[in-house]
This record gives sequence, C-alpha cells and structure tokens, in this order.
Amino acid sequence: MSELSFDSLVERKPVKIDLNGTPVCVTRIGDEVFAIADTCSHSEASLSEGEVTDYKIECWLHGAEFDLRSGEVVTPPASIPVEVFDVVREGAAIKISSRKSAQG
Ligand code: FES
Repeated sequence: MSELSFDSLVERKPVKIDLNGTPVCVTRIGDEVFAIADTCSHSEASLSEGEVTDYKIECWLHGAEFDLRSGEVVTPPASIPVEVFDVVREGAAIKISSRKSAQG
C-alpha cells in the first residue's frame, strides 16, 4: 500500500507514485481520486505525463485514451486495458493498494 495526502493532489494534474515497485498514476477529479497503472499498455509511455479530460487520460506519446475509472481503452492505438488500483480516502490521507494483492 502507498499513502499520500489528498491536499497534495492538484485537480486533473496526475502524479506518478511507486507502489511496491509498480508505477501508478494518481489523478484527482473534484473530491474523487483514481489510480491506474502509469505504464501505457501500448508502448510503455508514462500516463501521468498525459492530459486529463472528463474521466479520461490521454497518453502523450501516441494519443491513446484510458478511462480513469475502469482502466479501459477509450481511444486507440492502445487495445489492452491498464490495471486499476483501489483508492481509499481516510480524512486527509489517500491510500492506494493493488487489487491483486487484496485477492491474495
Ligand atoms: S505509448 Fe501510449 S499510446 Fe503509444
């Protein structure tokens, strides 16, 4: 699990964090926070360097778009969804964890 402060997150300005060696892209939209794999499934660009529009993030390298809520591809050229991580807000703290590890 990784923890960061809600107040450190700027609206629609994704940040990359390290979750046990896995880069994760964390994005705040209003009072909501979303966490998806930072590595684009197309050619491994860093998604946190991309633009956020609505609930989508656009990869800066070739323009694929992913849904921040589901990790699904919205716009090609990517075709494989990216992993989604669990986000829990406890007061001022945001806790990010892998769904895979939660399943054992
Ligand atoms: S690396 Fe992201 S769209 Fe190509």
